[in-house]
Amino acid sequence: PTIYLKDYTAPAYLVDTVDLDFVIATGATTVSATLAMRRNPAVAAQPLVLDGEELETLSVAVDGEKVPFSTTPTTLTIADLPDAFTLHTVVRIDPDRNTRLSGLYRSKDGYFTQCEAQGFRRITWFLDRPDVMSTYTVTLHADKATYPVLLANGNPVASGEEADGRHWATWNDPFRKPAYLFALVAGKLDGLFDTFQTASGRSVQLAIYVEPGKLDQCPHAMAALQKSMKWDEERFGLECDLDHYMIVAVGDFNMGAMENKGLNIFNTKYVLARADVATDVDFENIDRVVAHEYFHNWTGNRVTCRDWFQLSLKEGLTVFRDQEFGADLHNRQTARIREVRGLRAAQFPEDAGPMAHPIRPASFVEINNFYTSTVYEKGAEVIRMIQTLIGRDGFRAGMDEYFRRHDGQAVTCEDFVAAMAAASGFDFTQFMRWYNQPGTPHLAVDSVFEAKTGRYTLHIKQSNPRASDNHPYLIPIRIALFDAGGQIIAGSDRTLLLTENSQQFHFDGIAAEPVPSLLRDFSAPVVLDYAYTPQQLTLLLAHESDPFNAWEAGQRLASTLILDATAAIAAGQAPVWPASFVDAARRLLQTQAERGAAFVAEALTLPGESTLAEALDIVDPDALHAARNSLRRHLAEQLEGEFAGLYAGLAPHGAYTPSSEEAGRRALRNTCLAYLLELNTPAVRQLALQQFRSADNMTDQFAALAALAQTECTERETALAEFYQRWQHEALVVDKWLAVQSGSRLPDTLATVKRLTGHPAFDIGNPNKVYALLRNFGANLARFHTPAGYAFLAEQTQLLDGKNPQVASRLARCFDRWKKFDGERQKHARLALESIRDHQGLSRDVLEIVNRALG
Ligand code: ARG
Ligand code: ZN
Repeated sequence: PTIYLKDYTAPAYLVDTVDLDFVIATGATTVSATLAMRRNPAVAAQPLVLDGEELETLSVAVDGEKVPFSTTPTTLTIADLPDAFTLHTVVRIDPDRNTRLSGLYRSKDGYFTQCEAQGFRRITWFLDRPDVMSTYTVTLHADKATYPVLLANGNPVASGEEADGRHWATWNDPFRKPAYLFALVAGKLDGLFDTFQTASGRSVQLAIYVEPGKLDQCPHAMAALQKSMKWDEERFGLECDLDHYMIVAVGDFNMGAMENKGLNIFNTKYVLARADVATDVDFENIDRVVAHEYFHNWTGNRVTCRDWFQLSLKEGLTVFRDQEFGADLHNRQTARIREVRGLRAAQFPEDAGPMAHPIRPASFVEINNFYTSTVYEKGAEVIRMIQTLIGRDGFRAGMDEYFRRHDGQAVTCEDFVAAMAAASGFDFTQFMRWYNQPGTPHLAVDSVFEAKTGRYTLHIKQSNPRASDNHPYLIPIRIALFDAGGQIIAGSDRTLLLTENSQQFHFDGIAAEPVPSLLRDFSAPVVLDYAYTPQQLTLLLAHESDPFNAWEAGQRLASTLILDATAAIAAGQAPVWPASFVDAARRLLQTQAERGAAFVAEALTLPGESTLAEALDIVDPDALHAARNSLRRHLAEQLEGEFAGLYAGLAPHGAYTPSSEEAGRRALRNTCLAYLLELNTPAVRQLALQQFRSADNMTDQFAALAALAQTECTERETALAEFYQRWQHEALVVDKWLAVQSGSRLPDTLATVKRLTGHPAFDIGNPNKVYALLRNFGANLARFHTPAGYAFLAEQTQLLDGKNPQVASRLARCFDRWKKFDGERQKHARLALESIRDHQGLSRDVLEIVNRALG
């Protein structure tokens, strides 16, 4: 059954207070719920229909009396209710056998919850929708020795001992919240404790709980939490409203983390870090995810979503906020480059494929399928455009207005934009198209220079074949014009507002034909075509002061070359690599001191295969793969001396420090190593193995391993074996070990992945393992897109669906782009998809993905 945004109606009943009592025991947990309810006076009288899933109902009473009720597997209906009443239900659930990891479930060290989006109904009968907000009081009872830590949202109220070595604790959350923000934890956990003083002088007790023995991997997350609290005060004037802010890390978790009020639950991947087990990228990701969940306390929790179609209201905005935090904390230039690289690798393909949807979808079958890079990352780009249109100060005023209007409410994307409009005076009517249409707009840009008049004209056309009509978007396009010497022409730096399907922009007083730098800082999530010459791009790569567009010029140069070479290889010819590209790369390597090592590392990283594939109508993954590799090898041959020199020159001065400066040096040095390894000489292999063995940090150790994993040699096998031997007891490091193998370009990767599914390191019940081994294989363009690759992932998807449909559904998305490949591949992909579709008892989650893919 498809659910439509247009069918939204307000809830017929409201829940003012929720009292829950959990008796947790092996084999069964009993949940008693007491709900103070009343009719919503704004809605016509009707029976009460509660949501539930896999609940064993033991009793139902209204105002203390047993009442007649009827149930289906997912509803409980009671008719003839008074205007206000107390509903009491008792259910039995089985967290020990909850392999979906939604609702209350068991993991190694105890019991944990995940309620977003619709997991709360797997705990008790409820109005499980975000516009029903209540205050919660929660009591947990459990065995004291096995589950010494008992947590729920809010503040501890009371606790005590009971018979048979059991104990209990009661928590109260004074803030009204929707059920999806409910959480509890009962486990054996170690805690790291600290405090935060807010700007107005309140003291917040901070705690991070992790599996016993892992406290030395918590300080980074604690520091990240304190930094995010400070940053949100400074940038947005938002203070923490809580007395207790707790983070609990769990190894079995479907997604990244969850912003439950005052009790965040995190995938261990985004909490645990120590220099010898986590890379620089891991450290940065932890900063951003900790900040993301903290920022949700305002953008998501204080102001929440009216319904799940509005998901981007909180996710797009909160991703934008965590991106800005990350940029301020680390390196703004490379942060933007990485955001766009990620958007192009995941969101652009999504928006061009069978799962294309607006950042606010109009319909869905399973909401969990819409926690997508469109809702999150494109959603963040849309928020960023709002800031670009009204400026930072206007955006801040809009945020203030949003909270002034809507604190404590469940609202829509329109409400957010209306607050931005009211605070800035900007008319966002046309802009709303970004919320309502799928597909990536394309911009085709032409230029004309008239020497006589000194006029330079840009002619910009926009189109989006995926949209339901051809109305134009409002698109902010930051630009600047460069002269032949690489200087910005004074006054040419501006933001063009494209509002028509076809529009001209004039620049007067221009002495000679300029080079346009278009879409600086990636001011809109679009594909932009302009017939740049290689000379123009080389000039921008060398001189553009906006680091994003300097990087972009290099990516455009490389893309053109790789795509041309792909066609050549497919036609049986050898690729040709112009000397000018090698020269540009050489100059780039020489500018490392001025431009920063981190930037140079990004600029030397060629566009990824899945990004390149989007530019082709029919993808030959082998030819594309061969072309990209050939360019890497060519650069390695031509610049061997430079790479080796830089590798030596960037050697660490002393012990590891996590600073972004040092991280940049490591990134560039490891980029050089990976290029050198393309030569596959014994000397370079030894160099890599030597770095692998001697590194005092995971960044360098893993970079050497990852480079070796792409290289056919005995050192590869040695390093992989040593790495597993050393780290087999660190689950997150084992994930890295699986991922370098499933992402390898070696021809026998499928066989390796198949073998690894039977290795003790793999566990199909653990989402991180599935993502590392199986989904990462599905992202391996050249190795997955084969008949055997399709059959394998189809089989794994079916196997997984019986245990965890949410994760199975994410795996099924590896098939999204199957129609971009040749007829023979399509035949096998279709068979694979049909085999999934026809699987007995297939979940709604996977069925929606497969039905869309089959079209
Ligand atoms: N709200 C969480 C976050 O972005 C994501 C949780 C989604 N979980 C799910 N099962 N769909 O921070
Ligand atoms: Zn979020």
